[in-house]
Amino acid sequence: MHSVDPTTEQMIRSVLAYAQNRLRLDPVPLDGIGRDPAALQATLAGLLGDGPHNADQVLGAYTSAVAPAVISADSPRFLGFIPAAPTKAALLFDMLVSCASIQGISWLEAAGAIQAENLVLRLIADRAGLPPSAGGCFVSGGSAANLSALVVAREVAKRKAGQAVRAGRRLRAVVSADAHSSITNTLRILEMDPLIVATSDHRLTGASVRAAIDADGDPESLAVVVATAGTTNAGIIDDLAGAAQAAREHGLWFHVDGAYGGAGLFAPSVRPAYDGIEHADSFVLDPHKWLFAPFDCAALLYRDPALARSVHKQDASYLDVIHSEPAEWNPTDYAYHLTRRARGLPLWFSLSVHGTGAYTEAIESAIRLAKEAATEISQRGYLELIREPGLGIVLFRRTGWSPARYQDWAEALLRDQVAFIPPSAWEGQTVARFAFLHPHTSMDLVRQILDRMT
Ligand SMILES: Cc1ncc(COP(=O)(O)O)c(C=O)c1O
Repeated sequence: MHSVDPTTEQMIRSVLAYAQNRLRLDPVPLDGIGRDPAALQATLAGLLGDGPHNADQVLGAYTSAVAPAVISADSPRFLGFIPAAPTKAALLFDMLVSCASIQGISWLEAAGAIQAENLVLRLIADRAGLPPSAGGCFVSGGSAANLSALVVAREVAKRKAGQAVRAGRRLRAVVSADAHSSITNTLRILEMDPLIVATSDHRLTGASVRAAIDADGDPESLAVVVATAGTTNAGIIDDLAGAAQAAREHGLWFHVDGAYGGAGLFAPSVRPAYDGIEHADSFVLDPHKWLFAPFDCAALLYRDPALARSVHKQDASYLDVIHSEPAEWNPTDYAYHLTRRARGLPLWFSLSVHGTGAYTEAIESAIRLAKEAATEISQRGYLELIREPGLGIVLFRRTGWSPARYQDWAEALLRDQVAFIPPSAWEGQTVARFAFLHPHTSMDLVRQILDRMT
């Protein structure tokens, strides 16, 4: 299994040929049909067992049944949830990272990979205006990053509160109802409670945070203010400057979840909306969303990484060797993980090859497309634009449609391989939603989709 024999040679040829063809797809087709569990089971049954199988036979099962039953998140026709649009350079380098088993745990083991990753983290920190001391690591996604950051926020608050918290009091987080579901999950895992801020127009502001804290009977139990730089459902950027100020006034940690929208820091047309992000104690941005990296890659940055290290560093006799003095940078010390792949390297390669200017242009193109789509929607009498888009997400209604009609429309679009655009909900009602990331998604496609709502 570990030597290069004729079977290995055959696999290298076949798998690389498949990978080359997949990489050359332009555009990537949508796929995602043939999801019948019985049919999938019939194709895959029997491949796992004591005995070997010919590699081409197994690859054949993958290409004929597994791959087509996965909707290609990197297709310009994937417009649901938050898509992905990895560059060819990043995809290629991801293969290299896998082929070379590059890990990124400790400086001792992976100095080169960590230095390259840290340069990318620095680039992101600079865009956010975080101080030179800021740093962190790449984790698997926004959920893991939010969890890792809020653990630090909770521990820092515990240290400040001392006795009262040790006596079993639960800490709380100031959040908006539009914060991502992973924040709710995180709070449950951390046995924290939310103080939900009432917002007008779904946007957390300094005034709304202050009002919520002032009206609260137990402000001592608050640990952190969580703001979102680009809500998942609508792309709204909270009033980061105001929320940061309110957090400071109350001595609270300020966390910014920019898993989706953080990439807008690279887009001059929207950059002013992020003012105040430079005050973040922790900040999350998922390059596997809008910075065109492959899954799975989230940047997690702390203003004061030493605090994060004091919470996350794992101590054990077998790890002493990676924690020798003077302290070296170990990504493993900055999040809830130990082993990690160097998942920032594909982004480092792609950014270096293309330059940040190309990223800016690609991000701006999704913002432009959202504006054009909004204009088109406003001009069609049977549609209603719910709000002007700020980033690349457009929410709209088809007047008179029931939830079932939206569902049928979405299913037909996927069946016909036009687009993947599952409905969402807004203020309790089913709505349609474009999430644009891919720079090759076109207005022609948008019109085609809207035409099918008449
Ligand atoms: C604002 C926000 N935060 C967090 C997440 C979770 O990120 P992940 O899916 O990478 O765990 C998302 C995902 O869409 C998001 O939009």
